[in-house]
Amino acid sequence: MSATSPNLPDLSQVTSLDQLYGVFEELSMEGGWHRPAGPALWPEPRKTLLPHVWHYAEIKGVLDVAGRLVDHTQADRRNVTLTNPAEGNVYPTVRTMVAAYQMIKPGENALAHHHTPAALRIILEGSGTCTVVEGDRVEMRPGDVLLTPSWTWHEHSAAADADDCYWVDILDVPLIHLLEPMFFEKYEDVVGHDGLQPDPRDLDASPIAYRWTDSLARLEAQTEAPEHGMAEQEIELTTDGGPAMPTIALHVQQSSAGFASPTMRTTANSLYTVIEGSGEALVDGEVLRWERGDIIAVPAWRPYSFTVREDAYLVRASDEPVYGALGLLRTEKL
Ligand SMILES: [Fe+2]
Repeated sequence: MSATSPNLPDLSQVTSLDQLYGVFEELSMEGGWHRPAGPALWPEPRKTLLPHVWHYAEIKGVLDVAGRLVDHTQADRRNVTLTNPAEGNVYPTVRTMVAAYQMIKPGENALAHHHTPAALRIILEGSGTCTVVEGDRVEMRPGDVLLTPSWTWHEHSAAADADDCYWVDILDVPLIHLLEPMFFEKYEDVVGHDGLQPDPRDLDASPIAYRWTDSLARLEAQTEAPEHGMAEQEIELTTDGGPAMPTIALHVQQSSAGFASPTMRTTANSLYTVIEGSGEALVDGEVLRWERGDIIAVPAWRPYSFTVREDAYLVRASDEPVYGALGLLRTEKL
């Protein structure tokens, strides 16, 4: 049996480009000068995913309906993911990250699982719900940012007398889809225990929990202006002095009413969650009005600026660590 392609013509008989392109197809190749899908290189980042804002005031009602219609035992997680509205997009919120709103009701458990994508939660409202990460149980309080690093067992449980609890999830799933090392297991399949981590340790302070009260105190004590002046004050939520997680950096920004930022652009993608206040983002000419609980998607290389109407706190989740590690982080003030 021949090791060569059976349909490959006698190359000595190839006398036209059309015939040559037929050979390319036969051998799964393409000429660098002949790319039906367009060039492989272009001068600067293309505009693919869109600037967009999702309004918590609208989505909270949708989650409440899901709370009536979707039993938590049917759904692994009762969440709604935010699909960037770019034509043809079916999943990411920005290129490397997906955001979702999630709700859990009193007495419910979102059973333990782990996955290679890293996740974080930004708590919007409710008390009495805890997340358990690798056996450490931490209460989820409004304004807190809680980490679920890659491949850590995690579950969420609400006490019987808890409030309905609402939060924002941000994960690097689209990046893992691209890179392909997706692994996912349910605790009940691997360990058992009805899908819940046994005997969790109750912790108030934990390396995976950035408490809102601590963030406020750090912002208050901050004396240096942020590097690009995009907020009046900014702190980074760090792990061991570096980014919160290898693929996602977290910053908390504070600006007073009337603040107007300069315009900048960056190769990194950002998702802003509004903890308090209101204002507008101008992203590549599009005005995005935001208020408490909203999520603003600022895709890479889109010029953007912020103006603040009511004193505001925003949590910025970005993929800067990914671009930084690869030498691809470019940031410009315009
Ligand atoms: Fe998860």
